[in-house]
Amino acid sequence: MVVPYTHEPLTDFTKEENRKAFEEALKKVEGELGKEYPLIIGGERIYTEEKIKSFNPANPDEVIGYVSKANKELADKAMKVATETFEWWRKTKPEMRADILFRAAAIVRRNKHEFSALLVKEGGKPWKEADADTAEAIDFMEYYGRQMLRIKDGFPVNSREIENNRFFYIPLGVGVTIPPWNFLFAIMCGTTVAPMVSGNTVLLKPASLTPVIAHKFVEVLEEAGMPAGVVNYIPGSGSEIGDYLVEHPQTRFISFTGSREVGTRIYEKAAKIQPGQKWLKRVIAEMGGKDTIVVDSDADLELAADAIVYSAFGFSGQKCSACSRVVALEDVYDDLLKRVVEKTEKEVNVGDPANGDTYMGPVIDHGAYKKIMKYIEIGKKEGKLMTGGEGDDSNGFFIKPTIFADVDPEATIMQEEIFGPVVGFTKAKTFDEAIEIANNTEYGLTGAVITNNRLHLEKAREDFHVGNLYFNRGCTAAIVGYHPFGGFNMSGTDSKAGGPDYLIQHMQAKTTSEML
Ligand code: SER
Repeated sequence: MVVPYTHEPLTDFTKEENRKAFEEALKKVEGELGKEYPLIIGGERIYTEEKIKSFNPANPDEVIGYVSKANKELADKAMKVATETFEWWRKTKPEMRADILFRAAAIVRRNKHEFSALLVKEGGKPWKEADADTAEAIDFMEYYGRQMLRIKDGFPVNSREIENNRFFYIPLGVGVTIPPWNFLFAIMCGTTVAPMVSGNTVLLKPASLTPVIAHKFVEVLEEAGMPAGVVNYIPGSGSEIGDYLVEHPQTRFISFTGSREVGTRIYEKAAKIQPGQKWLKRVIAEMGGKDTIVVDSDADLELAADAIVYSAFGFSGQKCSACSRVVALEDVYDDLLKRVVEKTEKEVNVGDPANGDTYMGPVIDHGAYKKIMKYIEIGKKEGKLMTGGEGDDSNGFFIKPTIFADVDPEATIMQEEIFGPVVGFTKAKTFDEAIEIANNTEYGLTGAVITNNRLHLEKAREDFHVGNLYFNRGCTAAIVGYHPFGGFNMSGTDSKAGGPDYLIQHMQAKTTSEML
């Protein structure tokens, strides 16, 4: 028997011993920067000429690692290995596959700060965000391992006197996992281990901006006893091997997390039947968000201000769940705005995330920096700049937390995903109007309502159309097993990562009926 699932506790960095331990981990990781990393195909280490250079977004001269890059031939080789491995891996005991995850979780837990320190360096994550990312990776392994044990025998169906019926799930085949760079450990881990523990084999194409943590993670799986060929590590460019694998006739499913633009392209490409393809590919796509916090007249405004600041500026707003719009009822609007601006100016300092007191580090790369700064310029025309509005890319990609007031709900910065530390405020006359505004984008990922009005809360529960709706808290930081995560509309397939039906999406149901 395994102990019941509870989420991994976060580290308390107000404790001196924890700060010390984290600083030591950072030093250790710094000592290992700049190494070369090979592909891992069927357990074989393959070094290629062409490399992806992974760098620290807070200091781009600091190279995290040089990672070998797969081409189409190597992607084919990985597909062959994964296809062959699937033939026996699909028949392994679910208990054994779950045990690999439990052991891998224990290995990560024992070296937790080292993994988090790597996330500080490779992802530009402040300590707290990095610690939460590692904890979530552990959670995914612990939770999905247990879910597999729960669903392994399928669900009961009716049998009759002369007929014995069964209903159970079998794995799909070879899956391609394409994770994002923002939850470089947690989502990469979750979208790799879910298919694996359900009996599929995996081609993991890590995010090109954060491939080193993914390499380290595949090593953890190996150390935990994962046989060769089950998860194959094949970094490479999206346009070269990403598209190639999505279109490959032997790909059975794709698990993608990232932008709406890439996600919809994958969805379209996967839908086209290729010569020799025998199935309809399944696509699990978690894409963007344009997430709103609604603040009601009858609300605790201090709680609202706290929720907005951490949801908008945690990890520089680079979360699909980040709050990028605030809709406040007109009688509390000015008071709320003032509190949020003051709190932001007082609490949200920007700097090197390796420093334990930094609230907000850099954005991920120069492309992201330019895109966010472009939206800030648009915002200056569409609203009133209350704070921030400036960036510095002289060394690293730093952008000040930025707040715009009095923005029209239809304005560009209120409709398009910015994926940076930018939030726009708008006013509503009634609570009904606030919910209408909250629903007026093509996304539907997260949202929050701050209110003490029970009737308004119930209205939001019915009408605020998002996959993850929170009351009297912020709209980020879903916890595995507690807040299954995924969104409606252009936010994706609502596949609910960290939820009870997530694994089943990597499987297909089979009915057997025996006449007695
Ligand atoms: N699950 C994350 C959150 O809730 C986003 O991917 O913030």
